[in-house]
Amino acid sequence: MITLYVNDARHDLDLAPDTPLLWVLRDHLRLTGTKFGCGEGLCGACTVHVDGQPRRSCITTLDEVRGRKITTIEAIPASHPVKEAWIADEVSQCGYCQPGQIMSAVALLATTPHPTDAQIDTAMEGNLCRCGTYGRIRRAIRTAAGEDRKRGKRS
Ligand code: FES
Ligand code: FES
Repeated sequence: MITLYVNDARHDLDLAPDTPLLWVLRDHLRLTGTKFGCGEGLCGACTVHVDGQPRRSCITTLDEVRGRKITTIEAIPASHPVKEAWIADEVSQCGYCQPGQIMSAVALLATTPHPTDAQIDTAMEGNLCRCGTYGRIRRAIRTAAGEDRKRGKRS
C-alpha cells in the first residue's frame, strides 16, 4: 500500500510502485485536469507540484512521491492570480497545454514573485504549446505578478 496526499486528501493505493503518477491521478483518482502529452517528460502537459515544486507526472513513479504532497490544477482556485491573469489576457487557444503551463507559472511566482522575462522564460521553457501562446503566457505571468499594473502598460 502506498500513501499519497493529493490536494490535501489522503489516498492509500494498492498499485505497483513503478506506476506513473500521471496514471494514478487520471485513471485512479479521476483528476483529469492534468494532461497526457508526450509521456516522456518532454512537453510539460502533465506538470503537477510535488512539495511545491513542478514535476512531470508522466515520468514520476508512485514510489518517488510516497508520503509527499501532490498538488494538481484542480486545487488552484479560480481566484488565484495566475488563473485570473490567464483569463484576463486570453491565453488559451485549444487549451490542452494550459493546465501544465499554469502549474509551472504558479510554482514560479511562489518562489519569485516578480520574475524578469529571462526568469519567466527559464521557468517555462519545458512547457510546450502547439498553438504558440508563449507571448500571451509571458504577459499573463507579468499580469499575475502585478508588473503590468506597475508599468501602466501591456506588451
Ligand atoms: S506528458 Fe509528461 S512531459 Fe509530456
Ligand atoms: S493552447 Fe493549444 S497546445 Fe497550448
